[in-house]
Amino acid sequence: MSETLEAQVPALRARDLGFRVGGLDIIRDVTLTIAPGHFLGVIGPNGAGKSTLFNLLSGVLRPSAGEVELDGHVVTRRRPAERARLGLGRTFQTSSLFNGLTAFENVRLAAQAHRGGSGRFWRPPRPHDADSVRAGEALALVGLADRASRVTGLLSHGDKRKVELAVLLASEARVLLLDEPMAGVTADDVAHLSELIAGLHREGHTVVMVEHHMSVVVGLAESIAVLDAGQLLALGTPDEIVANETVQRAYLGQPL
Ligand SMILES: Nc1ncnc2c1ncn2[C@@H]1O[C@H](COP(=O)(O)OP(=O)(O)OP(=O)(O)O)[C@@H](O)[C@H]1O
Ligand SMILES: [Mg+2]
Repeated sequence: MSETLEAQVPALRARDLGFRVGGLDIIRDVTLTIAPGHFLGVIGPNGAGKSTLFNLLSGVLRPSAGEVELDGHVVTRRRPAERARLGLGRTFQTSSLFNGLTAFENVRLAAQAHRGGSGRFWRPPRPHDADSVRAGEALALVGLADRASRVTGLLSHGDKRKVELAVLLASEARVLLLDEPMAGVTADDVAHLSELIAGLHREGHTVVMVEHHMSVVVGLAESIAVLDAGQLLALGTPDEIVANETVQRAYLGQPL
């Protein structure tokens, strides 16, 4: 991380972002600036627009208004694969893995797709090529070295989420958009995944994480954005957000 006083180029930036469908604002006027190496938590009730925001940032959806910038480059009209090549990685709320492939094959495909572009997608695996080595390292990092050859569909839910993180690591993503990485996993896996994600942040990754486990978000994030009905309701440190009366009123009796 830079220690200079120069204005840092944000790792990721949303400027006046809007997404409108059928006359309805799903996302409205969202502006967020995320510095390199920062950890931003995103919270908000069901249907607030959190996943839609990720879709706009990653290029799955085109915004109706505003711009997305990655490392200072406007990428608003760039496709998801192009943004991925620029270092943006994203996990989905529901698992996006190939269940019929092994954990290793899933991760190796990500390494290969990142390096080889979108054309030659599958080449027969050779055990010591660069992609295989990177896949093995990524799986070891998430603690799945011993389950690398298991068929992904047969892994526990928590282990699948770890494979998804390994996929991101193998694709050399620097900016990680994690959409509820701990949804539906056991308490043990929440602890393990939290430690894993904290480690990625310590290593210098920029992390933006949507998560309903409030204690996890408050524990990991350096700042928290609260989305409500498609708009940014509040942005601040975890302490500020927990103490924020507007936020509390918006969630009256409802877990954040
Ligand atoms: N492409 C689309 N067309 C129409 N409506 C959409 C589209 N995408 C999302 N929506 C609607 O936008 C709202 C926000 O959805 P989104 O999935 O982004 O919320 P969320 O905050 O991620 O919710 P959850 O916590 O349940 O994951 C919902 O009402 C959803 O039905
Ligand atoms: Mg969602």
